Amino acid sequence: MGKINSTKSEIYCLSLIAMIVSYNQASVIDVKTEGAKGDGVTNDTPAIMNAWKKACAGAPPSSLLLPPGTYMAFPPFVLSGPCKGPIEIKATGATIKAPPELEKFQTTDTWIRINYIDRLTMTGGTFDGQGRGSWRNANCKNCQKPVNLGLGFVKNSLFKDITSINSKYFHIHMQGCDNTKLEHLTLDAPADSVNTDGIHIGPTNGLNITNTIIKTGDDCISFGDGSTNIRVEKVTCGPGHGISVGSLGKNPNEKPVERIWVKNCTIVGTDNGVRIKTWPGSYPGKVNDVHFEDIVMDKVANPIIIDQNYCAGRVCQKNVPSQVKITNVSFRNIKGTSRTQVALKLNCSAGSPCDNVELADINLTYSGGQVTASSRCANVKPKLVGQIIPPACPVNVPKPYNSLM
Ligand SMILES: *[C@@H]1O[C@H](CO)[C@@H](O)[C@H](O)[C@H]1NC(C)=O
Ligand SMILES: *[C@@H]1O[C@H](CO)[C@@H](O)[C@H](O)[C@H]1NC(C)=O
Ligand SMILES: *[C@@H]1O[C@H](CO)[C@@H](O)[C@H](O)[C@H]1NC(C)=O
Ligand SMILES: *[C@@H]1O[C@H](CO)[C@@H](O)[C@H](O)[C@H]1NC(C)=O
Ligand SMILES: *[C@@H]1O[C@H](CO)[C@@H](O)[C@H](O)[C@H]1NC(C)=O
Repeated sequence: MGKINSTKSEIYCLSLIAMIVSYNQASVIDVKTEGAKGDGVTNDTPAIMNAWKKACAGAPPSSLLLPPGTYMAFPPFVLSGPCKGPIEIKATGATIKAPPELEKFQTTDTWIRINYIDRLTMTGGTFDGQGRGSWRNANCKNCQKPVNLGLGFVKNSLFKDITSINSKYFHIHMQGCDNTKLEHLTLDAPADSVNTDGIHIGPTNGLNITNTIIKTGDDCISFGDGSTNIRVEKVTCGPGHGISVGSLGKNPNEKPVERIWVKNCTIVGTDNGVRIKTWPGSYPGKVNDVHFEDIVMDKVANPIIIDQNYCAGRVCQKNVPSQVKITNVSFRNIKGTSRTQVALKLNCSAGSPCDNVELADINLTYSGGQVTASSRCANVKPKLVGQIIPPACPVNVPKPYNSLM
């Protein structure tokens, strides 16, 4: 009996030791044990960097923990991989603040960058860019407006329950990412903040953005060249400039934008709803297989718009048509109100007309008065399915009232 008992307790002891060892191997690195103060004053970047280096080099699954607190994160930093294996960043309840002074940002275009990581799960955290003072500061000498969160070459990863507020420039910029999800994000900056795009997507393949709220001063989501296989679902946008493909054609050798789905979104009070924009006098480019579906528009200035004569803040060769070819695009089940009378504009390029554009079940009404909404089309012959309100090309559109002529 005694013998059996001691064997049992030996086994118990061994398994306890095994548990402790495996717990230690799970390397949870707390930024506070690495010296972070989390008092909102101390520059905690060095401690966060030390903790990251340990977590990244630790045996997987490892994690970096930012316990609740307010961390002043300066100077800007990069959490870079590759790590030993899957890794987590847990920041639930933590607020990470950038210093408000734009002059402090001179050598980098990003405040916090996450680079070259495979299988990262990042949960929680409020990233406060304290950007108020920088939005109007267009000519700051020797400084660069930083993106709040830059995600570069991140693969097979998940970012969830993250908040970004008052970024000095874009809230999130993605580049070179693959097979990644963004879920339950909240991006918030006032309508009059400048260049605070919500999520700007550079060359990226395989991305799902869901259940996200974006209130900002520029595009809620923009798909730059090389955006492919991207789904945006259950996103609320506004204030802001809407959900946009482009702008495209500004630079040589831009990669195609292909296989984009924007579905079940609500767009409120923005300048544009769903938009594709390309520059005139442009380099060649390609937009193919882009679908906007089940979208509610609430007092949006331009709810549906293809603009191949987009020219903002720059001198354009307006008489030279855009060379970006737009094909296989659909706008389906888009309902609600337009703040301008022309609710639907498809202004394609005379040099490369749009091909295979479909409009299905559209009902947009003008919120501004007695007159009914209207549409404008150029260089496009869309396929029309179901009821299209306002009537659109090639159906003969009733002449709009005089002030619009
Ligand atoms: C995105 O969603 C689609 C459809 O639900 C799914 O097939 C795909 O695997 C998802 N991609 C990522 C990166 O989660
Ligand atoms: C998505 O669709 C559901 C069901 O129609 C609706 O309740 C919800 O408000 C929609 N979400 C958005 C963001 O539009
Ligand atoms: C448009 O879609 C069709 C059918 O999927 C495809 O064959 C064609 O190549 C697409 N057009 C372009 C320019 O990719
Ligand atoms: C279009 O929307 C308006 C305003 O919501 C509504 O009164 C009207 O019945 C709708 N028309 C159709 C055909 O659904
Ligand atoms: C298309 O855009 C050009 C340039 O802004 C404009 O002159 C033209 O009237 C527009 N066409 C339509 C049909 O709205």
